[in-house]
Parts: sequence; C-alpha cells; structure tokens
Amino acid sequence: MMQRQQSFEKPTRIDGSSYIVEGIDAKEARNTCLVFSTKEQSSGSLANSLKIFKKHNVNLVHIESRSSLRVPGYEFFVECDAKSDGLGKAIEELRELSTYFNVISRDYKDNVSAVPWFPRRIRDLDRFANQILSYGAELDSDHPGFTDQTYRARRKYFADIAYNYKHGQPLPHVDYTAEETETWGIMFRHLTKLYKTHACKEYNHVFPLLVDNCGFREDNIPQLEDVSNFLRDCTGFTLRPVAGLLSSRDFLAGLAFRVFHSTQYIRHPSKPMYTPEPDVCHELMGHVPLFADPDFAQFCQEIGLASLGAPDDYVEKLATIFWFTVEFGLCRQEGELKAYGAGLLSSYGELQYCLSGKPQLKDFDPEVTGITKYPITQFQEVYYVADSFENAKEKTIKFANSIPRPFGVRYNAYTQSIEVLDSKHQISNLMNNINSEFLILQNAVQKLKV
Ligand SMILES: [Fe+2]
Repeated sequence: MMQRQQSFEKPTRIDGSSYIVEGIDAKEARNTCLVFSTKEQSSGSLANSLKIFKKHNVNLVHIESRSSLRVPGYEFFVECDAKSDGLGKAIEELRELSTYFNVISRDYKDNVSAVPWFPRRIRDLDRFANQILSYGAELDSDHPGFTDQTYRARRKYFADIAYNYKHGQPLPHVDYTAEETETWGIMFRHLTKLYKTHACKEYNHVFPLLVDNCGFREDNIPQLEDVSNFLRDCTGFTLRPVAGLLSSRDFLAGLAFRVFHSTQYIRHPSKPMYTPEPDVCHELMGHVPLFADPDFAQFCQEIGLASLGAPDDYVEKLATIFWFTVEFGLCRQEGELKAYGAGLLSSYGELQYCLSGKPQLKDFDPEVTGITKYPITQFQEVYYVADSFENAKEKTIKFANSIPRPFGVRYNAYTQSIEVLDSKHQISNLMNNINSEFLILQNAVQKLKV
C-alpha cells in the first residue's frame, strides 16, 4: 500500500505518445514509388514504360495499373528499388512521356519534387507496422521490469505477436495471467472513482457501454479484438497491435484510416499506478472510450489526414497538437473543466492534478499549441482547453489548410483508401458526391417540416 501511495505522489505520468517520435522517419522502406499516366493510352503503354526501367537497370518491386481518377484512361503505380542507380534518369525519361507524373518517396529529403510516402490503402499499414524505431521488448535500465526476466520474456511475447500481425486478421487473443489481471484491477479501481467528476461527458457516456459490451471490469483485461469490433460499430475506428515505437509520420498516418496502433502488454506489477510507456491500461482506459464518440473520432482522423505527405516540420507540429489534445487535452463543459486526454484519463495522479487549479490553462489554438514545448517525464505545466471536439476539429482543419502540399486528401470509407485530390476531374467527382449528399439532407429537412 505504501508503495502505491508513493507512486501517486510521484510527479511522473504515462508517456502516452511515446509511440510518436518527432521528425524521425522510419529507417527502412526507402523504395521510391511513381504514379503516372502516359500520353499514349494503348494496351502496350505499360510495356513501353517498363522498357525505360529496364534500359536504366531499375529493379521494380511492385507494378500496378488502375483506372485513373485524374485523367481519362489508366494510370500506373510502380515501386522501384531505391538502390537502382539509374532511377533518376528513368524518372526524367518517363516524365517526358507522361500526362500525369508523381514521385512518392521515403527519400524525399534528397528529392525536392518528391512527396513523402504515405499509405493509400488500409492494408498499406502493414508496410510500416514493423518499421519500428525500437522493439517493444527492449527496456531501459530505469524501467520497473528491467531486471525481471519473466516480465521481459512476456514483453517479447507481446512484441512478437504484434510483429506478425497483418491487416484483416483477428487481433491476437491473449490469456492474461492472474498477476497481470491484478495489476489491471488496481489501476481500474482507482481510476473509475475519478471519472464521474473528472472525465468529459462523452467519456462517461461511452464507458458503461464498454463495461456492458467489452468486459471492462476490475477482474478482466478486455481483449483488443472485442474492443476493436465495438469501436468499428460506433465510429469505424479499429485497433491494430504494434510491436514497438513508430515514427510520428507513420503513427499519425494510421489515424487517417481511423486505425489506432495499440499496445497489448501491461505495466510491471511492482508499480501498478505507473508506467514509463503506453501499455494496455493506457490504451483501453485512456484512448478507447473516446474513439467511440463520432466528433472525437473525426477530430483524430483530421489530424491523421493532415499529416499525409506533409513536410517534416508540419508532421512535428501535428504530433505536438496530438500530444496536447488526444493525450493531454482538457475541455470546458457547462462551465466546468473536464479531461478528455488519454494520458490524463489513464493516470490517477495527473487526472487530479490537471483539474487542481495549479497548472496554467490556455485556449486550444493549433498555431500556438503546435509549437509548444512540453516535458515528457513530468506533469504538464500547461494544458490546452477546447470548447468542444467539433470546435477543435474545425480549428485543426483550418490549420491543415496551411500545410504546404500540392494536393488535397479525402478518405474513402467504402474502399478504405485515401483519395489524393490533385486534378479537376477528381474535384468535379467530389462535388457531384457532395451534391448527392446535399439532396439527401434537403429531402430530410423538407420531411421534418411536414
Ligand atoms: Fe497515448
């Protein structure tokens, strides 16, 4: 009991976004992708293009043709081995023959015309899920479980099952041990005492549903699969297990698809109220409830969409916005301050501290919030307060419009893919879609009047 009390008072908190590293891109997957439509649109146009790669000794990893949304006819997507020396010359030659040409590369820093690579389809998340900056089983020397060989073996087990996960598979079912469930229970018992008075109303609306539908109980650690299915029904959000630290660019890209990369292991039993990194308690108690709220889900997705293809400095700003909102955000509801950030809602100490009147409070403003420095080993000195998720979302969309990138993006929920809007033809299609939606709205409004 004494040990627990000490950890409550310790001014440390869950490093909720340590799955995000600012400004560092994943070290692998340096291949360059090209999307192009040739001036000649005959059945042999792809074969002719491929001859150019052969001429310049460029190895192709992946080739795809598809009906183009940008220009009449077809477009081709090829992924080139980045080690090919002749790639620059092949690009020059191919560009001459194309009506549309776009280079997408992890090596965008060396290629000013390239847009940083980003996933276009939900299954593309498999491509960076294992490009982790550190494996989840590696523990720092000051980690509570550093010298515990049983805990370390368990962490390796969790990292391995996440490492082998592929999109579309059921999320791994885990049989938690009695000791792990007890750790969860201590944390659950303490935090649930605070939610009624400290958590936002959206959180308190969803939490009982998680108790009823996903086994959120003191004596049970919910399974990610059950939680993910529940979230899919509510907002289309899903979880996917992660083996270790992802770059901020990759982590935020997942949100564009309403996919949240989640840990599945639990903190060390010696400190049930403290963890130096995100664990399943942080994900389930902190993040999950609000992903079931439509406005909050959309707010998170807007941050993700804004990050796709954005320059590094803007990705860093978006990661900072994520930190001060999704991780440590406060909001004002009926004249009272409430917490909605996952780092707060999963930390018994900081959840009380953030509403104590001691820390500095500022209105959420993406321009200012995005460049605010923050400590990662102590409670925050400043918290940003949102009027509502709807309002925070609108401000974030406005901020996203200032990001320099030569295209717009839109998530197509039917195909679970990102549409890159960079042609009149696509924009015209989008306007037609919006027009159809508007007619549905108009019709419904008329019926209500009757
Ligand atoms: Fe987090």
